Amino acid sequence: MKRRQFLQSALTTGAGVSILPSLKVFGQSAPSNKLNIALIGTWGRGLAHFDSIADENVVALCDVWDRNLKDAVKRFPKAKVYHDWRKCLEQKDIDAVVICTTDFTHAFVANWALNRDMHVYLEKPLAITVEEARVVRANWLPRKNKLATQVGMQRHAHDNFNRVEEMIRDGAIGEFKSAYAWGNRQIPKPGYLPAAGSPPADMRYDLWLGPVKTDHPYNPEYFSGRAGANCLQWNMYWDFGAGQIGDMGSHTMDLLWNAVDCHLPTSAQAKGEPFNPDVTPVKAEMRFEHPANSWRGPISLTWYQGGAMPKPPSKYVDINKIGHGAMFKGSEGILVADFTTRVLIPLGKDGSLSYYNPRSKEELLPSVGHFQKEWINAAKSGSTPKTSCDFGYSADMIEQMCLGLVAYRVGSKLKYDGKNGQVTNNAEANELLKREYRTGWTLNG
Ligand SMILES: NC(=O)c1ccc[n+]([C@@H]2O[C@H](COP(=O)([O-])OP(=O)(O)OC[C@H]3O[C@@H](n4cnc5c(N)ncnc54)[C@H](O)[C@@H]3O)[C@@H](O)[C@H]2O)c1
Repeated sequence: MKRRQFLQSALTTGAGVSILPSLKVFGQSAPSNKLNIALIGTWGRGLAHFDSIADENVVALCDVWDRNLKDAVKRFPKAKVYHDWRKCLEQKDIDAVVICTTDFTHAFVANWALNRDMHVYLEKPLAITVEEARVVRANWLPRKNKLATQVGMQRHAHDNFNRVEEMIRDGAIGEFKSAYAWGNRQIPKPGYLPAAGSPPADMRYDLWLGPVKTDHPYNPEYFSGRAGANCLQWNMYWDFGAGQIGDMGSHTMDLLWNAVDCHLPTSAQAKGEPFNPDVTPVKAEMRFEHPANSWRGPISLTWYQGGAMPKPPSKYVDINKIGHGAMFKGSEGILVADFTTRVLIPLGKDGSLSYYNPRSKEELLPSVGHFQKEWINAAKSGSTPKTSCDFGYSADMIEQMCLGLVAYRVGSKLKYDGKNGQVTNNAEANELLKREYRTGWTLNG
């Protein structure tokens, strides 16, 4: 039995108490109650995870750039250090991994970690193509009762997510019809950067490019952003990211996705600025249709980015003042929300709200609490670990959005068979559900 399974089974069954101290007897910080964690991508967003993993055993650190390893090595001096995440994941005592690398490596590292039975915290977005999202979900499904997973959409811990969900479920807008989310971030770029200078001596640029098929030349501009925002230097290029849907789109769609209770869409259509083969669109709009479920009829969801916006709910409500927001329309009213606040606009002449049956205080959904700790606690909980943004919830969400980008590229309405991951009315679109990788890099290794 691997150390991790032993730790879980002892915690859940009470077995082995004499050799393995229980949480109750020795407290959270007893060494054997700790997870052995690997942090992959140690600077930038990686820095934001130091405090939440510091109470565990950080046993491995990995980054392609020595400069970016320095702070982590200082904070976690006992950890082994790697430059290639594939080698890092071969370390035998790792229980759990926190992945803060580039978006184009996320599905790779997540798959490799799941296939080695590790708990995974993966920074958003979960994937940048439909195929990547589907492979991650397929690897997670058979392990979902033993491995804790979480995608880094930490705004989900705002109580407003619960309040929006409750209002829709309790009938604040009547019969739920459609939902809209938008983000106003705009980072226009003409194309991939030209060759400039050489990579720093302590950086492995070949490992940074990793699975990317095209040998894009080094340019320091890709690495010129501040810690935690350097992703804005590369995530809009097709080979390196999914543009706005992977960036703020992941957070803002989460606000919508949490309330709509959807899985995969039956159709996708999109429009936007002219296609650029190097760079994802700044301005675009994507619409998806979803079937009915047990508590609502069929609905449509629309995503707007880079200046595209839905019609305002009323002439005196200026939704342009909300940079990243969501709106839910029903037969009786409209709910507008950002990450932390919400406004209800009853429709019609009286707007009586008589159709709204708000739940009692006792029935409110429980707070998520600390988002990263939610994952750590779930990993230690034994069977059926519960997290807010597990790989089922998050893979469905990003699969839909990546499909939206494909619809944008082909410019026509796509019919989608979510069970088989196939577009049924457009062969060209089917080819765009996946991408090719550099020889030697395996998505599902
Ligand atoms: N949840 C959030 O709010 C939030 C905020 C910022 C960034 N992010 C996400 O975090 C990730 C990192 O963003 P960032 O701005 O820190 O980017 P970054 O370019 O600064 O990269 C982070 C670190 O990963 C390292 N790295 C890159 N490729 C690697 C590889 N293949 N193997 C090992 N290390 C590698 C870099 O050297 C750097 O130290 C992105 O996916 C981004 O979308 C999430």
